[in-house]
Amino acid sequence: MLSHLIAAVGFLIISLFPEGVRSESAQYQGGICKDVSIPITVTSENFVWGLPTFKDNFDVAEILFEVARDDSAEAFHPFIGTRNETATYRIEGTVCTPMVKTQQRENTLLIATHGLGYDRRYWASTYKPKDYNFVEKALKIGYSIFFYDRLGTGKSQKISGFSNQLANQVELLAALCKGFRSGGLIPGFGSFKQIVLVGHSYGSSSTQGVAQKYPDIIDGLVLTGIAYYPPPDAGKITLEAFAPRIAKTVDPQFSDRDNGYLAFRDIHAHAQTFFKQPNYEIGAVEYAQSIANPFGIAEFLSLFIGGSNASPFLGPVLVSLLSKLLCFQVLTSLLVTTGEFDLIVCGGECNSVFARDIARSVFPRASVVEPYVHPGVGHGVNFGKNATGLYDVIIDFLENQGF
Ligand SMILES: *[C@@H]1O[C@H](CO)[C@@H](O)[C@H](O)[C@H]1NC(C)=O
Ligand SMILES: *[C@@H]1O[C@H](CO)[C@@H](O)[C@H](O)[C@H]1NC(C)=O
Repeated sequence: MLSHLIAAVGFLIISLFPEGVRSESAQYQGGICKDVSIPITVTSENFVWGLPTFKDNFDVAEILFEVARDDSAEAFHPFIGTRNETATYRIEGTVCTPMVKTQQRENTLLIATHGLGYDRRYWASTYKPKDYNFVEKALKIGYSIFFYDRLGTGKSQKISGFSNQLANQVELLAALCKGFRSGGLIPGFGSFKQIVLVGHSYGSSSTQGVAQKYPDIIDGLVLTGIAYYPPPDAGKITLEAFAPRIAKTVDPQFSDRDNGYLAFRDIHAHAQTFFKQPNYEIGAVEYAQSIANPFGIAEFLSLFIGGSNASPFLGPVLVSLLSKLLCFQVLTSLLVTTGEFDLIVCGGECNSVFARDIARSVFPRASVVEPYVHPGVGHGVNFGKNATGLYDVIIDFLENQGF
């Protein structure tokens, strides 16, 4: 991580669509937007896959078994260690500044990182954008925003699902932050005075990784779909509920990914893990399924396993313990939130988890830690009922913190 070489190529997409019929790469309401493709060179300490790669879905069934077994902490070791690797990855995203400038808020850039199972469209729904589109909400309030396809999703580069993982994604996000802060990353877009990272789920974990390693390059954090006190079996339950299969056997549109990429078996597996009745519209789940993206098995396991000898599924807990030991500093403010009935990070019930106020101990030096449980919905807070209620909480938080 001594140096990051960042080059940037941007191209402007100019298109005018009638309201309600917008192409994915088009302008967003209230913003001046550019789709960009950015090659980024980073060095990261990556886990090295140590098992045979998947030939077929019987191999996937076997690994699901190994992850779920009661003694997996002792019996299951997918990685054989770590290795420092330097590589250049192509990341595609969309950067927008607000059409109407308000109180110089355009100088604050929100960098939004989506979670497992989606691509950048998680933040910018074309289904009922007034109800589900965070990007347009942020632009309306006057913030600039960059939202991108995490490595291996959407239009960004696809590397093997056995090597795509948290470590390289943390470095990529850090490089984006540095580039946007110093300017010159994208022609026509100068530097931004303040950078606030907004994450969902896995995107919140990468965001936390950046905050941990490079606390001085960010000014604020909004972490959604995260709780910091997962039940011991959270990882096992999540993977079982996804019922994942090799992505290209689920949908031929994923044939540009290797067998390390897994997809929800069907829309109902997706609904079980991200939604809670009665607080969703089936139309919103159908849209979410239409933008679903596979995840790399190493992405999943790198979050939940600390190393070849470490106990599986202690990952986040270890992170929290380590943070305490190292007196982890984030001299900034953060909002931590998820849905009340989040299966993935709370085992299905978040009020009691948030009552423990764990986030405050994970970020002991933060100036402000605001925990918030959004009523009624599951893990996929952007597509649950009253998503705009959550956006209001986020915007209030940002305004109160002076952004
Ligand atoms: C990777 O590089 C870091 C920083 O130089 C070093 O601390 C670490 O031990 C290296 N890891 C491996 C596996 O070589
Ligand atoms: C939507 O969320 C906001 C923010 O928590 C809350 O104040 C409001 O009561 C919610 N509305 C409904 C209809 O649940």
